Amino acid sequence: MAHQEVYNWQLGRNMMYPYKEKHPKWQFAFVFNINRCIACQTCTMACKSTWTFSKGQEFMWWNRVEHMPYGGYPQSWDKKILEILDKENPGKQRWAVASTSAKAPYGVFDGMTIFEAAIHAGTGQNALGYVPTDKEWRAPNFYEDTATGYPTAAPDTQHEGSVLPHHKTWFFYLARLCNHCTYPGCLGACPRKAIYKREEDGIVLIDQSRCRGYRKCVEQCPYKLPMFRGTTRVSEKCIACYPRIEGKDPVSKYRGNESIKDAKFDMTTPSQGDPMETRCMAVCVGQIRLQGLVQVNDDGTWVEDRNNPLYYLIKVAKVALPIYPQFGTEPNGYYIPPRHVPKAYLRQMFGPGADAAVETFMNPSRELLAVMNLFRKHQSIIFKYKIEQGPKVFENADFHGKKFELYNDTIIAFNKEGKELFRTPVEEPIYIRRGDIHYNTI
Ligand code: SF4
Ligand code: SF4
Ligand code: SF4
Ligand code: F3S
Repeated sequence: MAHQEVYNWQLGRNMMYPYKEKHPKWQFAFVFNINRCIACQTCTMACKSTWTFSKGQEFMWWNRVEHMPYGGYPQSWDKKILEILDKENPGKQRWAVASTSAKAPYGVFDGMTIFEAAIHAGTGQNALGYVPTDKEWRAPNFYEDTATGYPTAAPDTQHEGSVLPHHKTWFFYLARLCNHCTYPGCLGACPRKAIYKREEDGIVLIDQSRCRGYRKCVEQCPYKLPMFRGTTRVSEKCIACYPRIEGKDPVSKYRGNESIKDAKFDMTTPSQGDPMETRCMAVCVGQIRLQGLVQVNDDGTWVEDRNNPLYYLIKVAKVALPIYPQFGTEPNGYYIPPRHVPKAYLRQMFGPGADAAVETFMNPSRELLAVMNLFRKHQSIIFKYKIEQGPKVFENADFHGKKFELYNDTIIAFNKEGKELFRTPVEEPIYIRRGDIHYNTI
């Protein structure tokens, strides 16, 4: 198929893609603050126990929490695709000097995307990729908790490895799922046209009845999300828990606001159209996840929506960045980079916005501090927030080299219909237990 020219705002330029440019009305997206992830794998098990617990799905982990830099599922997926691209365009996989306009917020990528590298290679493929071996799929937690480097043995420098601005000995947890990309490599790859992107929410799905198991999607998704199922001979991938996004999934009536003893756990009541966060998002113990929907214009730009928390974090504060934007699929998974990791590594994984994003995260504005309190507070998707100002409760003249002031503002979250979901203060309240109740004491 002849490639067409499309606009990729993450690259700040047009690029080639196997299909004409077309955009959904809303786009499924998420922000992960990986500074907070504790690798408890609750998200992983929530997905597995909902969608991939059957025969033939034993190695399917649609949600995975990888241990970087050595791990990855399938093993070393990112290193392998980076090497393939570099081989096609040696030494030139670079970003041009940052010219941060609204159309190119991270500057312009000068190298080749997976689609452009395929055209350059001239093999007739729609995108460059590889099919992981069974060995690489054998376990989801390669190199668990394995750090790079070693602190020196000299007594005066032995803690050098754990001092900010970045640690010399480091690793981090990278929670991943399908990015429901704007220009999906999997969709562009499928010769059966079995993969489609939904107009209503941008979710990318594999039509199980059309798929014939060609595995081009497995090969050409640079993030390695589609997986082949031997028992059915077709491929499967994360479905973004679409019944929950549609507000059709039965949910508990307990929303966290009433007393737990009065709650009604009626699991047959659908959320009645109220879009809910996916299973992996809704269970996150570390409160690192915020998932939602952003409104998209016909030309693929985002409708300005200043008080949508995702719009604010990605477009206004620019504290959350796309994962490996240089691959060219315009992923809709965004990450607040881990602040202790060397910048060169972060720039490779999240693009040239990484330095500024870490700086913004370490010296948060009053608004950012309030918005960070929206993460993982409610099962309903938050479409808007409002901040009510509160008193100053703390100040530090030299906080990471800058003056820092903490205000106990209250942030209020609203659902799609504009109904208030919850309100929470920036400063977490302290509750004193009653001295006469000791439930766990004999
Ligand atoms: Fe397709 Fe992979 Fe993008 Fe998901 S992450 S939409 S599987 S290219
Ligand atoms: Fe699994 Fe749903 Fe999360 Fe996708 S969004 S990884 S299907 S739990
Ligand atoms: Fe990390 Fe949250 Fe998953 Fe736990 S549930 S591993 S904190 S993303
Ligand atoms: Fe197409 Fe992938 Fe199936 S390439 S035929 S969706 S295995």
